[in-house]
Amino acid sequence: MLNMVASVDGATAVEGRSGALGSSADREVFSALRAVADVVLAGAATVNAERYRPPQTPGAVQEARRQRGQRPKPRIAVVSGRLSVDPTLELFDDPGERPIIITTIDAAPERRSRLEPLADVISAGKGRVDLAAALAALSPFGSLVLCEGGPTLNGQLLENDLVDEVNVSISPVLTSGSARRLALGPTPLERHLTMAHLWTAEDMLLARYLVERDPSRSEQPG
Ligand SMILES: NC(=O)c1ccc[n+]([C@@H]2O[C@H](COP(=O)([O-])OP(=O)(O)OC[C@H]3O[C@@H](n4cnc5c(N)ncnc54)[C@H](OP(=O)(O)O)[C@@H]3O)[C@@H](O)[C@H]2O)c1
Repeated sequence: MLNMVASVDGATAVEGRSGALGSSADREVFSALRAVADVVLAGAATVNAERYRPPQTPGAVQEARRQRGQRPKPRIAVVSGRLSVDPTLELFDDPGERPIIITTIDAAPERRSRLEPLADVISAGKGRVDLAAALAALSPFGSLVLCEGGPTLNGQLLENDLVDEVNVSISPVLTSGSARRLALGPTPLERHLTMAHLWTAEDMLLARYLVERDPSRSEQPG
């Protein structure tokens, strides 16, 4: 599933970060989704811009996760072909919560060896990360993968039909400018959604949509 916050006119960042779009209601959605996720997935640019940290999971949430048979905290997994993830991020500070970095088999060896002491670096694809293979590689950590963006990663997940659910919080603000929308890609696509929930809080719209499966894209038996 995806989770993003956006302005009414579709911007997902203000001055390169999402913080100005958020509110306590949106942060509650963010925390509630992280509370159930097995893996939190993000693109390298998001992790760097948003200064990712190890997951902050309250004790009661950890206990509920244990009771459901999950790890106490979700694993954070970063997609990065060029291994541009900033090794000084707080994300790498907790040795008990090593993040996963998903790269390619032909990633620069010196960058890989710089990150390997800090994270579990895995390969999926050559040239670019093959996102279906990446999700398959994450399956031992659990089936519920929450993608927190950014637009470049979201666009590819949608293009590859790897998204079941889209959570979007619409912030009561217009920003204009040229900020990216929720999903970005070289080729326009059309995915139809069914609304599963819509809440309002603090003038925000908090929506949860399910992606309708396109039968023409599913595998034919035999
Ligand atoms: N409003 C929100 O909720 C929200 C959420 C998240 C992010 N954001 C904002 O969105 C912006 C970042 O988004 P973005 O679209 O620029 O970037 P992004 O999707 O976060 O990350 C793009 C990077 O991810 C890696 N990547 C993604 N797909 C890949 C693939 N198939 N193979 C190899 N590498 C792949 C690449 O890293 P390498 O360059 O290392 O190869 C690529 O440069 C920031 O301004 C952030 O604040 C907003």
